[in-house]
Amino acid sequence: PKIYAITPTYKRPVQKAELTRLSHTLMLVPNLHWVIVEDAEKKSELVANLLARTGMPYTHLHAVTPATWKIKPKEAWYNKPRGVLQRNAALAWLRANVRSDEEGVVYFADDDNAYALEVFDEMRYVKTVGVWPVGLVGGLMVERPKVNAEGKVVGWLTVWSPNRPFAIDMAGFAVNLKLFMSKPEGKFKNEVQKGYQESEFLRHFVTSLDDVEPKAENCTKVYVWHTRTENPPLREEIRLKKEAKPPSDLRIEV
Ligand code: UGA
Ligand code: MN
Repeated sequence: PKIYAITPTYKRPVQKAELTRLSHTLMLVPNLHWVIVEDAEKKSELVANLLARTGMPYTHLHAVTPATWKIKPKEAWYNKPRGVLQRNAALAWLRANVRSDEEGVVYFADDDNAYALEVFDEMRYVKTVGVWPVGLVGGLMVERPKVNAEGKVVGWLTVWSPNRPFAIDMAGFAVNLKLFMSKPEGKFKNEVQKGYQESEFLRHFVTSLDDVEPKAENCTKVYVWHTRTENPPLREEIRLKKEAKPPSDLRIEV
C-alpha cells in the first residue's frame, strides 16, 4: 500500500530548514507520495527545487489562505485554523487523480513536526482509521487514544478539550485510501470550533470508535512529536533594513 502524505507549508524564515528536515525523513520511506501544498498565490522556486532534489514521487500544489483567515502578525497563532485550504486542495487532487481501487492511506504530515520512521510502518496497513499517540501536544508530554484490555479504542487521554469526538492531533491518525475515496464530503473547514479540525474531517469516515484501529503497540509508543520551531530573532536583519543596508541573504537562499 502507498502512503499519500499531505503537507501544507508557507513562506517564513525557517521554511527551507523545516522542509529539508521533513524531506530527509520522507526520502527514507518506501512507496510514499508526497503532496505538498504551498499557502501562496503561486508555487515557489524554493519548494520546487527542494522537491526536485528529493528524487521521490511528489505533487506540488498551491492554495492561498484568504486574508480574512490568515493569522495577523500580532495575533496569537492559535486564533485561526492553519493549513485548511491547503489540505483540502490536496484532498481534491487525490480524489481527481487516484484510482478508487488503489491500496493505500492518507496522512497529514505538517512541515514542523518530528517523525520517526516507525510511524509510517504503523499507518501503511490501516483498513479504516488508524490512531496512535502524539508527543508534545495539547499542553502535555503526550496525548493518546485510550485503549481497553480487549485492544479497542474507547476514548482519548487528553486534558485540553477532551470532549471532542476525536480528541487527537492531525499527526495522530491515517485514513485508508479506499475509505477516503468512498466519502467525497470528507474535508476540512475554516468555520469550526478551535481544535475541531480533526473531528470535522474524521466524522465522515468513522461513526463509532469501534471502527478505529489502535496502532503503535496499542497506543503505547510515541512515533511522532508535535514539535514547534522557534521563530528566529532576526534583530540584526531589522537593523540592516533600517540602515538601508542589504540583508544577509541577498544572494543566497536560506
Ligand atoms: C495544530 C495541528 O497540529 C495542525 O495540524 C492544525 O492544522 C492546527 O493545530 C489547527 O488547529 O489549525 P500547529 O502546530 O498549531 O498545529 O499549526 P502549524 O504547524 O503552525 O500549521 C499547521 C500546518 O499548516 C503546517 O504544515 C504549516 O506549514 C501550515 N500553515 C500554517 C500554512 O500553510 N499557512 C499558515 O498560514 C500557517
Ligand atoms: Mn505545527
